[in-house]
Amino acid sequence: MRKNVFIALEGIDGSGKSTQIKLLAKQLEKAGHQVYTTFEPTDSPIGKMIRDIFSHRMEADHKVIAGLFVADRLNHLLNKSDGILKKLEEGYTVLTDRYYLSSYAYHSVHMDMDWVIQANAMSAELLRPDLNIYIDIPPEISMERINRGRASIEMYETLDNLRQVREKYYEAFDKVKEEENIYITNSNRAPEEVATDIWNEVSRLLI
Ligand code: TYD
Repeated sequence: MRKNVFIALEGIDGSGKSTQIKLLAKQLEKAGHQVYTTFEPTDSPIGKMIRDIFSHRMEADHKVIAGLFVADRLNHLLNKSDGILKKLEEGYTVLTDRYYLSSYAYHSVHMDMDWVIQANAMSAELLRPDLNIYIDIPPEISMERINRGRASIEMYETLDNLRQVREKYYEAFDKVKEEENIYITNSNRAPEEVATDIWNEVSRLLI
């Protein structure tokens, strides 16, 4: 069986990624994988700066945000203590909550998507996910979930923005369909059903 694969979970805010990542990690562990789960923006100083911008403690132009994500991602891959490349070398299967497809979708609402793809080319060259899983949800439903679960709303969490981001995700999938392995699943149903479909897809990678 193939071990240490790299899988990215994608979706708009409130799509249920974090629930699915936990369920997928459990299944992989049951199948004998050592699993390392991680996320972007990371908790590095660069990731913290991004979160400060999102929570309005700091101000920055969208182009600067896109650039910070490029740096955060490269550090996520390359840092010597717990970088993704190191974890893969150590034999872990790595699951990340967001990777460069998030940048393609979120930032191209504000700038040219090709620029965002170019800016992330080094990460794509260093490590392409074996599988990108996109958890699809109508933006109206994700907004309801966000409003129920959070005391404060972050920068990108408005209905209008999430609608645009969802459209950009689909535009990005079309643009990169030759290079990327993308699986789309609908999450407007019981989490266990979504998890079963995801596991069926991931199992095919592991043969
Ligand atoms: P995330 O941590 O998934 O959201 P949550 O607040 O639910 O934990 O992501 C935070 C925000 O970062 C989310 O609105 C999407 C945005 N984002 C980008 O704009 N570009 C990127 O490249 C990534 C990875 C995330």
